[in-house]
Amino acid sequence: MVDILELQEEFKFAPFNSFNQLKEDNYLKSKSVFRRRAYSIGSITNSRLNWKEDTTFLQSEELNRYMGGVIRHFEPLLMESKNYIESIVHRLIKSAKIPQDDYEIGCHQIRISAENDFNGYPAPEGFHRDGFDYIAIHCVSLNNVNGAISLVRPIDDEDHLLEHVLMPGQVMVLDDREVEHYVTPMTPKLPGAAHRDIFVITISHIKE
Ligand SMILES: [Fe+2]
Repeated sequence: MVDILELQEEFKFAPFNSFNQLKEDNYLKSKSVFRRRAYSIGSITNSRLNWKEDTTFLQSEELNRYMGGVIRHFEPLLMESKNYIESIVHRLIKSAKIPQDDYEIGCHQIRISAENDFNGYPAPEGFHRDGFDYIAIHCVSLNNVNGAISLVRPIDDEDHLLEHVLMPGQVMVLDDREVEHYVTPMTPKLPGAAHRDIFVITISHIKE
C-alpha cells in the first residue's frame, strides 16, 4: 500500500535553500500564509525527463473539494530543483518502486509553515487522492514541526489506516489509484516558526 525509499548519497544534493525562495500560494482560503509553492510538469520518455514551459494546474472538483475546478498558476521550479527531481524519479524506477515506463510527471515544491498564532495545513482538502497513477512525497526538511503525520488508507477499506511521520531524506510512494491520503495539521514544537519542506511528484503512465 505504501512504500518508503530512504535516500542516501543523493539527498546531500537536495536544493535545501530553494525553499526559501518559494512564492506565496495565492489560492488559499485563509489570511495567514501557511503555504508557499512552485510547480512544474514534464514527461519521461526513453529514460529522459523533459520539462515543459506550462505551469498551470487544474484538479477536478470531485478530487479536490477545496480548490477543484480552479485553474491555478504557480512559479516553475528552479533548475537545481528540476535536476534533483530527475535524479529522484530515476531512483524510483531503478529501485522498482514504480515500474519502468514512460510517464507524465508533475512536481509541486511546497513549504508549509506554522507560527504561534496559526497552524499549517498540509492537506486542507482532507482525505483525498491526487488523481494520478502514483505519487511520491519527499520530505526535504522539518524544522520545529509538531504534527504533520501522513495518514494513508485504501479507498475501499477506511478502517485500515497507516500512520507515518515522513522524515527528511525519505520518499513515500503511493499507488494513487488504490489509496487516499491526508496529512494532519502542524504547529510549532517550541514557540516560534515551524516549517515542513516537501516535493510531491505526480506520476502517470503515458496513455496511447
Ligand atoms: Fe495530496
